[in-house]
Amino acid sequence: MSEIKYDFGTGRSDPSTFPAEALQAAAVKVIGEQAEELTKYPGGLGHAGLRQAMAEREGGREGVDINPDHLIITNGSMQAVTLTAEALQDQKGDTVIVEEYSYPGTLGAYRSLGLDMVGVRLDEGGMRIDHLAEALERLTGEGRLPKFIYAISTYQNPTGFIMPKSRRLEMIEVAARYNVPIVEDNCYADVHYDGPIEPALFALDDNPNHVYLGSLSKILAPGFRLGYVYARPPMLEKILARRHDAGSNYLAAAIAAEFYKDGIGNHAAVTNPVLKRKRDLTTQGLEDTLDDICAWSNPAGGLFIWLRMPDDVDRKKLWELTQENGFNYLPGTAFHYANRNKPFLRLAFGHLTEEQIVEGIPVLARCLREARTSNEARTFEGLFD
Ligand SMILES: Cc1ncc(COP(=O)(O)O)c(C=O)c1O
Repeated sequence: MSEIKYDFGTGRSDPSTFPAEALQAAAVKVIGEQAEELTKYPGGLGHAGLRQAMAEREGGREGVDINPDHLIITNGSMQAVTLTAEALQDQKGDTVIVEEYSYPGTLGAYRSLGLDMVGVRLDEGGMRIDHLAEALERLTGEGRLPKFIYAISTYQNPTGFIMPKSRRLEMIEVAARYNVPIVEDNCYADVHYDGPIEPALFALDDNPNHVYLGSLSKILAPGFRLGYVYARPPMLEKILARRHDAGSNYLAAAIAAEFYKDGIGNHAAVTNPVLKRKRDLTTQGLEDTLDDICAWSNPAGGLFIWLRMPDDVDRKKLWELTQENGFNYLPGTAFHYANRNKPFLRLAFGHLTEEQIVEGIPVLARCLREARTSNEARTFEGLFD
C-alpha cells in the first residue's frame, strides 16, 4: 500500500483555521481564573459557562429559549449518542429506526448495545416519511415498536442532504402518532455554506421525549472531545442516570466557553467560507472527471459528498486501486445500517488542502474507470432513482 496523499476518508474540519493563539490565551486565562474548580470533579451536567454558550448557540440559531440546565456536556457527541441509546433501551434486541445510510460511529455503538436497527430509505430531503410511517406500522403490528428514531436531518452524514421544514413537521407528527421519541443528531448545524437554513426538529417539537445532540467537533475541533445533549426533564434525568464517569473534561470546556463567550459566529465566519471553497473544488473536480458515469450530492453544509458509482464497478478492485494510488475514501458499506455493500462512497473534503482536492479527484476518477467492467454511460439520473 502506498502512502495516503489524498485522505478523503475522515470527516474533520479545516486545520489551517484552527484558532491556536486565541485558544492558548483562553487556556491561560481560565486556568488562572478557574483553578479552584479544576481541583474538583465537574459533575454530571458539566461546565456552566459552556452550557450557557451552547444554549445561546442553539437558541439563537433556532429563535427559541433554551435552559442551560437542560444541557449535559459530554465527551464528544458520540458519548451523547451512546448515553441516550442506553437511557431509551430496555433490553438487547430492542428495535430502533435509523436512516438507511447513517454515521458509522452511531451504527457501531447501536450494534454494540445489541439494538436491532431498521433502516428507512433516504432521498434528497432526508428520511422518507412514507417509509418511516410504513416501518412504524409494520413494527407495531409485529410487537416491536421502536424505542426511538435516530435522525441526522441537517447536512446528513453521509449524504449531505438537509430535510425541509415541511418534512420535519411530518416526521414529528408520525413519531408522535406512535409515541416514539426522536433523537436528533445535529452536529453539523453551523457548518453552513449556502441556501436556506432549515429549523432544527427540537425547535418545532414540544414533545418532552425529544432528544437533541450537539457537538463542538465540527465547528472547533474533535480533539476537544466536547459534545452535549439537550433534553427536558424527565428525559434529562433518565439520560443523566446512565452517566458514571463523573463528568466531562472541565478544562477543555472552560477553554471552549471562553473562546465562544461572544458567540460562535466570529469563528464560523472564518471557517465556513474556507470549507465552502473546498466543497466547490470537490464538486468541480467530480464534474470535470466523472459526470458521464456518476452522480453525487452538492451539500449546502457539512463535510461530506455522497457519490453513486455505476453498478459495474468492482468495488473491491476500486478499493485496492485507490489505496495503491494514495487515495482514501469511505465505502458505502460502512454507512449502511445492515453493512450491505452498495455502489456508493463518501468523500470528506474538510481537512484536505485545496491542492490535494484538485489533484486527488482525478486519481479517484481514473481508479473508478479502471475498476469498471464496461464503458457504458450513466444509467441513473440521481443518487436515489
Ligand atoms: C452524525 C455524527 N454524529 C456524531 C459524530 C461524533 O462526533 P463527536 O466528535 O462530537 O463525538 C459524528 C462525527 O463525525 C457525526 O458525523
